[in-house]
Amino acid sequence: MAMTQAARAGIDQVAEASIAALRAPSVFNTQPWRWRLAGDRGELWADRSRQLSGLDPEGHLLLLSCGAALHHATVALRAAGYAAAVDRLPDPERPDLVAWLRTGERVERDERLFRAIYQRRTDRRPFGDERPGAAVLDELRAVARRHGVQLRLVRDDQVPAFAAAVAHAGTVEHGDPRFRDDLLAWTTRAGFQRDGVSARTVVAAGGRTVARRDFAQAWPAGLAAGEGTDRGTVYAVLATEADEPRDWLAAGEALSDVWLTLTASGLAASPISEVVEVPGVREALRRLIGGVGRPAIAMRIGIPLPGSEAVPPSARRSGTEMVGLA
Ligand SMILES: Cc1cc2nc3c(=O)[nH]c(=O)nc-3n(C[C@H](O)[C@H](O)[C@H](O)COP(=O)(O)O)c2cc1C
Repeated sequence: MAMTQAARAGIDQVAEASIAALRAPSVFNTQPWRWRLAGDRGELWADRSRQLSGLDPEGHLLLLSCGAALHHATVALRAAGYAAAVDRLPDPERPDLVAWLRTGERVERDERLFRAIYQRRTDRRPFGDERPGAAVLDELRAVARRHGVQLRLVRDDQVPAFAAAVAHAGTVEHGDPRFRDDLLAWTTRAGFQRDGVSARTVVAAGGRTVARRDFAQAWPAGLAAGEGTDRGTVYAVLATEADEPRDWLAAGEALSDVWLTLTASGLAASPISEVVEVPGVREALRRLIGGVGRPAIAMRIGIPLPGSEAVPPSARRSGTEMVGLA
């Protein structure tokens, strides 16, 4: 059957949105998703071959990453003047079908977050002394809430306990051969694979309250820590009400929305997921934020030092690999 002109226009927009979504962040830059374009909609599929079996056995961080890709695609549609019509986890028989995405009604073009897609980076350097303002933090809370996700700030008096939890998670993981296998696999990817954590974006150790993730297994860190003290950095935990795939997907969409919003406001961030990867540490974090909700991921948010060089973009797989016709 010939496709109507409207369906053709819709799928073309979804195809373009799936290309913008290549820039979405993902755990260890695994980019664990694929798009299949079928009729007037895009199907977003989780790619289990890219799941971190030691670090993420349930696929929690995999679905967060898919959620980030989904949200990036909706931002691209909005920039083109369309609302997104999304069906999340639409088929219980096919749990890896993450979402159906179509163009919804016409809306006013909004390019603010779309521009942030290309500016956003995982910035692991210590940030400055000044704390992000209350207004922008309130905005980030509201952004997360739109996805049914709570953004809880770690209070200043809780930061030492949070830092201890991060450090403990690191120690547990580095003592676990399954984790070390994942780390080694995704920090030593060949250039042509265009995935994995890039040495160029990893920061040297520097005195700070909350230890940075130790990626430096096979190569030295590529980015200097700079002059930041991290004194103004705030630590946030995204928490969901329940602990099901649907919640992890929502947490990924919230992570993307919060991150693009803070980028558009001139702030920078990097996720801290080791605290949810080790079950005992995740439980401790849950108690730390008051026992309400399930921690999905934590992040550090701050003001980049004036004049600091841009973090280099990390690699992405190509559109022809990630997007295809059904
Ligand atoms: C679910 C998830 C978990 C992540 N966990 C961490 C982390 O614990 N530490 C870290 O430094 N970066 C973490 N990242 C950031 C990724 O490493 C990063 O997105 C990826 O390497 C691509 O780089 P980019 O964000 O600069 O494009 C995480 C990202 C996602 C989406």
